[in-house]
Amino acid sequence: MTANIIDGKRIAADVRAEVTRETKTLADRDITPGLATVLVGDDPASKVYVNSKQKAAAEVGIKIWDHPLPASTPQQELVDLIEQLNSDDAVSGILVQLPLPEHIDEDLILNLVDPDKDADGFHPRNLGRLLMGDPLIAPATPAGIQQMLIRSNIETTGAHVVIVGRSNIVGKPMAALMIQKAAGANSTVTVCHTGTRDLDAHTQRADILIAAIGRAKAVTAPMVKEGVVVIDVGINRTEDGLVGDVDFDAIKEKASWITPVPGGVGPMTIGMLLSNTVTLAKRRAGIP
Ligand code: GUN
Repeated sequence: MTANIIDGKRIAADVRAEVTRETKTLADRDITPGLATVLVGDDPASKVYVNSKQKAAAEVGIKIWDHPLPASTPQQELVDLIEQLNSDDAVSGILVQLPLPEHIDEDLILNLVDPDKDADGFHPRNLGRLLMGDPLIAPATPAGIQQMLIRSNIETTGAHVVIVGRSNIVGKPMAALMIQKAAGANSTVTVCHTGTRDLDAHTQRADILIAAIGRAKAVTAPMVKEGVVVIDVGINRTEDGLVGDVDFDAIKEKASWITPVPGGVGPMTIGMLLSNTVTLAKRRAGIP
């Protein structure tokens, strides 16, 4: 079998077109969704991500406030900035790019973002609502993956979804999304991590495998079954350029569907961030 490619670039373009239509409708009511981005430090990858998010936001009609801060920024200064953004009525969404420098308490900062302005869906209240099946918004990467499955007509009900990676950003919210009794979910979910015994035995049973490991080509062809759907969340910089967590060339000969890197999950994360920002702006304005 040679896999169909899940074209994240194309699906994300569809999502951005839908978001643009929404911002145009909001503009008729004099509402402009606004996203404040906060980047602490000068990690090159984070800079690229934040720039891409800002550019995409501007293109769909979302106003951007850019807050680049030096790596040495004292925690209190970041706290003051978040509080100022929380009380600024023009700001509908706040994004604090992760990871933050070592001297800053990430949990404290994520707790401080007003949950009604939490464009990433990382606030404990929003993660709790997601777990309970009543999400305001979902973290952008898991939400983007779910949209790719839905828009590729991939059956998720009853499917065994195996997630490799238990981060608060991807693995845990992905599991919370896929176990819900809802469209594009209703799956049986296994979450594997560094403590998992016999990882291959789990991945070989996956109908849908979601790799969020952070190690180049960590998932190899013998680890998956024929016909599997493979979603690759990894972005690893290697001598061969950008590669995912999955050995794409070998696994595409076994899978029924696979996402490429780049051009798979990455563009969807950005698309869903924009969608989340508009959702928050509408909610602020009392628009259903
Ligand atoms: N760092 C890695 N992924 C993300 C993301 O989706 N949002 C933010 N804010 N930081 C990240």
